[in-house]
Amino acid sequence: MGLFGTSASLLTDVGLFLVQLSAFLAFIGHRFIKKMRHPSWHHFTMISSYAMLWGFLTLYVSNYLLNDVSYFGGPSEIALLYYPFLLLHIIGAATMGLLTTYFIISGIKRTKYPETGWNKFNFEPTYQNRHKTLGKLVFWLWYATAVSGLIVYIMLYVIFEPKKTIILS
Ligand code: HEM
Repeated sequence: MGLFGTSASLLTDVGLFLVQLSAFLAFIGHRFIKKMRHPSWHHFTMISSYAMLWGFLTLYVSNYLLNDVSYFGGPSEIALLYYPFLLLHIIGAATMGLLTTYFIISGIKRTKYPETGWNKFNFEPTYQNRHKTLGKLVFWLWYATAVSGLIVYIMLYVIFEPKKTIILS
């Protein structure tokens, strides 16, 4: 039994919590730079948010290795909606995982830290535009992944009861 009273495992529920927290931190990190123009807060929030994302991924893989896989248990008409939606969610999450990895590494590598006032650092000019324009896409993908993951969880564990094996008929 997990954290939210469904039949999901504890690992699944803690993972769900971490990935939602990660999207929330990404939102705060976005505000820090967009509204408050505070690079060092943006820097640390984005790194923490990325760490949560990896926490989620580690729990997801552990759950897959340690527990039985859960299959969608609702009627077949809804399964026709559920599986394409799940596929979109997985593609979005994988793209977002790769892009965030690139952003964290390139963001740190392309930053110029002055000798004094480290919290006033800025980017190499050639990288600045790429970070700003592609970064907006990464944020939106981040939120979309978190929301679609929550919808998958609700469909799999809350609205319907999952099956532990696929029965082909
Ligand atoms: C997944 C991680 C990240 C994403 C998605 C991201 C995204 C963004 C976006 C969209 C902006 C532009 C905000 C605006 O002006 O509207 C921005 C600005 C900035 N980011 Fe990030 N960022 C990430 C990680 C980092 C990291 C790790 C660092 C530092 C080492 C960093 C440093 C900065 C700085 C200095 C700016 C201000 C650029 C300027 O306007 O001169 N970012 N980021």
